[in-house]
Amino acid sequence: MLRAGGLVILPTETVYGLGANALDEAAAARIYAAKGRPSDNPLIVHIADFDEIYRIAAEVPPEAERLAARFWPGPLTIVLPKSDRIPRAVSGGLDTVAVRMPAHPVARAVIRAAGVPIAAPSANRSGRPSPTRIDHVRQEMDGRVDLMLDGGDCDVGVESSVVTLVTDPPRLLRPGGVPLEALREVLPGIVLDRAVTGRMDESDRASAPGMKYRHYAPRAPMTLYEGQRAAAEMARACRGALAEGERVGVLCFAGEEPLFPGAYVRVLGRGDAPDMQAHQLFDLLRDMDAVGVARILAHAPDRAGLGLAVYNRMLKAAGHQVIHTEE
Ligand code: TXA
Ligand code: MG
Repeated sequence: MLRAGGLVILPTETVYGLGANALDEAAAARIYAAKGRPSDNPLIVHIADFDEIYRIAAEVPPEAERLAARFWPGPLTIVLPKSDRIPRAVSGGLDTVAVRMPAHPVARAVIRAAGVPIAAPSANRSGRPSPTRIDHVRQEMDGRVDLMLDGGDCDVGVESSVVTLVTDPPRLLRPGGVPLEALREVLPGIVLDRAVTGRMDESDRASAPGMKYRHYAPRAPMTLYEGQRAAAEMARACRGALAEGERVGVLCFAGEEPLFPGAYVRVLGRGDAPDMQAHQLFDLLRDMDAVGVARILAHAPDRAGLGLAVYNRMLKAAGHQVIHTEE
């Protein structure tokens, strides 16, 4: 199906992907149509064997080889100058290309069997939370693809970390499954793109075009609370909204549940367990929609380890609606 230009849903260790032949311009165009995605937002090209990188990228600096040796297969995407084999449609018109070698055995087996690199964005409609379970994929993509492969629940739960080696110093464009702390061990000079924790304004050069769109958004408006008094301020806002007769959804950490009587409360995990928070986040955002809450109050996570990716996704889900609280 992939060789014939079809769309195939693939499980990966991060989130489900919507795959197509990365060398086929028409197949890439079908991805954009199925997602409702703006065509200037480039796709990640997935490979199963390291040597494929030399055919996809025009230049492979030693840093790319060191990153791959340490983190591939796994949740890391590397941005490099693009080779001519990759159509412009795949890279959103940029002269760079994003490459990743996923760890999921099904994804790797499919890429190998197809015999071509596979372009695969997350298998959600543009702007919606990424799917981490096959039933999420069905909600988003039923009738829009040729085949769905069910690989069970995704382990990591947030997408890959995207690092560009095209800039000097290298830059983390999107935090994800490989923590910044681990990337620093290989790339001590790596810097965090401003868009990761801040709001991008129109004048910012869109180095990661995906970062400029509203993303990961549940239907209900969401507010993120951070700082020492976050839980207490959430409890206050919750009481106020409930008194107005609103249906309130709360995303909090283990142990905080009793602060929100009368609300629909879901626990992301322990406050000190970012891997669990990452694993749960997109499922809980979808759950808030399924239950039909009118608004969501969410406790911002600590930014260490995978927490940076969780924080970034929650910030975007909240459309940058953040309340900072201090003692
Ligand atoms: O974990 C993942 O990376 C998943 C699974 C399916 O592999 N894929 C994924 O793809 O998250 P997508 O398309 O949802 O996100 C790709 C991100 C976007 O933010 C996009 O802008 C950025 O990577 N990106 C892709 N190509 C790029 C390039 N050439 N330069 C800069 N950013 C790029
Ligand atoms: Mg995506």
